[in-house]
Amino acid sequence: MPLLEAAIAVREKAYAPYSNFKVGAAIRGADGKIYTGCNVENVAYPEGTCAEAGAIALMVASGETRLTEALVIADSPLPVSPCGGCRQKLAEFGTADVKITMTTLDGNARTMTLAELLPGAFGQGHMDKG
Ligand code: THU
Repeated sequence: MPLLEAAIAVREKAYAPYSNFKVGAAIRGADGKIYTGCNVENVAYPEGTCAEAGAIALMVASGETRLTEALVIADSPLPVSPCGGCRQKLAEFGTADVKITMTTLDGNARTMTLAELLPGAFGQGHMDKG
């Protein structure tokens, strides 16, 4: 199943009673498998989790720690943009050239690389004293 269909399907499962903004994410692991996630909100609002975080958690729990592409979908007027925290989470498991596709339900899509989404990303190199 392509990333798009997987993300559309998992978006339906989103638990978003507070924002009413359902998000679906599908990421492809280096193993070729697709891992999906949806946003899961909480009455204590900051405890909610993003769709991308769910997909990453499933990938890692399945034994894969590298991702090669990702797609995020929502019923938004503009291609849905991963939040700052999710950009950093995606960068943990993907190289700078990994393509992230952001799309609306009606097909308004935009693709950017991780480097474009998170310029100047904090990385392991920043902790090396050399
Ligand atoms: N959300 C995601 O799941 N992913 C994104 O990339 C953007 C925002 C969720 C978080 C929250 O449940 C809802 O969308 C509104 O911010």
